[in-house]
Amino acid sequence: MVDLNESKKLLVVRNELINCATKHPLFLNVKKTNGHIVFGRGSDEAKVLFIGEAPGFTENTIGKPFVGRSGKLLEEWVKEVGLTQSDYAIMNVVPIIPLSEENKIRPPTPQEINYFLPQTMKMVNTINPSVIVLLGKSAARAFGKENMRVGESVLHEGKKMFFIYHPAYYLRNGKKGFEDLTNLKKIISENKNSKQTSLNNFKTNQNE
Ligand code: URA
Repeated sequence: MVDLNESKKLLVVRNELINCATKHPLFLNVKKTNGHIVFGRGSDEAKVLFIGEAPGFTENTIGKPFVGRSGKLLEEWVKEVGLTQSDYAIMNVVPIIPLSEENKIRPPTPQEINYFLPQTMKMVNTINPSVIVLLGKSAARAFGKENMRVGESVLHEGKKMFFIYHPAYYLRNGKKGFEDLTNLKKIISENKNSKQTSLNNFKTNQNE
């Protein structure tokens, strides 16, 4: 398995993302915290791609997505739905930690999500998963899917798209969220028996 960070096929988009990130005002957060621009992690041939919001403090320090408390719960979900390491990858719609003026974590703004949308779509197209799991509202917004209900799946440009609340939401409510994974589990087991869908070039929905 080749990790996203070492993947040759993702090299161009990775460099592009880093280049765009260093030019964005959010990059100040990386500088003042001595942190990292966070790309992704997992297999560059993932069948299932989990898409989150933006790095938190732990991710900013380590330089990888979902390696803090939310990440622990996400790894439990991965086991629950029957995926192995080479089956999945994880990324965010914003690669830099968003901070408030008081240096508290905050959700990324729609403008921040839109700024990184071309690279987000290129990453999705290059990895070309069969299943995309949108983790929370920010990820859903990037794909114009903010009206999806938890546990719902839709077909989007030939790929299965599944929506679930962000792991942080379940943690805040003292829950694991396993009850909302039923449909995803089904999609994944069905998918194991079928071939990867052909490459569909996602458009950025900025100007649509
Ligand atoms: N929350 C996210 O959305 N992404 C991370 O990488 C960590 C926490």
